[in-house]
Amino acid sequence: MVPGQAGTDPRKGAIMTIDQDKLGELLGRFVGDLGATLAAGSVVVGHRLGLYRSLAEGPATAQEVARRTGTDPRYVTEWLCGQAAGGYVSYDPATEQFSLTEEQAFALADPGGPLYLPGAFVLALGALRAESQITDAFRTGAGMGWHEHHEDVFSGCEMFFRPGYVANLTSAWIPALEGVEDKLAAGGRVADVGCGHGASTVLLAQAYPTARILGSDYHQASIDTARKRAADAGVADRARFEAASAQTFSGTGYDLAATFDCLHDMGDPVGAARHIRQALDADGTWLIVEPLAGDTLADNLNPVGRVYYSGSTFVCVPNARSQPGGYALGAQAGEAAIRQVAERAGFTRFRRAAETPFNAVFEARP
Ligand SMILES: C[S@@+](CC[C@H](N)C(=O)[O-])C[C@H]1O[C@@H](n2cnc3c(N)ncnc32)[C@H](O)[C@@H]1O
Repeated sequence: MVPGQAGTDPRKGAIMTIDQDKLGELLGRFVGDLGATLAAGSVVVGHRLGLYRSLAEGPATAQEVARRTGTDPRYVTEWLCGQAAGGYVSYDPATEQFSLTEEQAFALADPGGPLYLPGAFVLALGALRAESQITDAFRTGAGMGWHEHHEDVFSGCEMFFRPGYVANLTSAWIPALEGVEDKLAAGGRVADVGCGHGASTVLLAQAYPTARILGSDYHQASIDTARKRAADAGVADRARFEAASAQTFSGTGYDLAATFDCLHDMGDPVGAARHIRQALDADGTWLIVEPLAGDTLADNLNPVGRVYYSGSTFVCVPNARSQPGGYALGAQAGEAAIRQVAERAGFTRFRRAAETPFNAVFEARP
């Protein structure tokens, strides 16, 4: 149908009129989205080959970036042009040099820093590899477990979430809980449930050297990596790991149990919460970190909601559907749904302790 002209609506066979402004707005959104989708692959290439890190060393021509990174100049030229068009890299036409501003370098060139955007793209591309299985799952209703995804989902998840934990976990979230910081500083006991690659476990072990921490996750390969991360960080003596589900992890008398961005992934979050409650000391605390979300769909119709709903369609809901329990909270569950899980498991006190633009942090007590 020609924009601006009346035509036949293919849905109803009725006459429809295209509003040029509204169509233009939709097309503008589409061009941005298509560019971002294709650029996602380029961001991951830049991450893997150290192209951003090389640019952070100083302005350079494409030839020079290629020389610095031992890569092919023609490919690097095309990559740099696309990055500059997307605003991830700066370009000076006078010198034909590319560079990173302080802000671009902060966000793109330091995998260990408090912000590392390429990690999110590794996660996104890894998740999208499951498109054909997820399309089938829409037809059948079947689940797809976390362990069935591409390896990039696990390492991308670690890179996506770790910077937020580096920035907030021990400086803001633990201090926001009632009495927990003192207990951990005095050598408390912690269960980090659904710990994945153990990013949070290692940070807790580094901040509270006399605390004893058990990281657990149902996914054996993630636990193997978490053990390696703890050994590399020199905290293997105080951070142990076991492959176990949130409904079965071992031990009792914990001062703190934590679920970082994983409760909503579970098919039986109430079963997990009940197990956590019986594993906690009578005066213990459950720290629940979940994606920031409002309680209604209307609250979440924004860019952050779009990221989480879309990721959740590919990873969180399919994982929950693959497990017994009948729940699939999704990554935009909101406070009311999380509170309901805690209350159904017998927790009597529940409050929002902190939040960031991406995370909601709740405290539940028996
Ligand atoms: C989004 S990742 C978060 C990992 C880690 N907590 C972090 O913040 O980096 C979700 C994790 O939940 C784990 N998981 C899913 N269902 C689980 C269950 N029933 N019991 C234990 N872990 C589970 C997955 O294996 C995965 O490591």
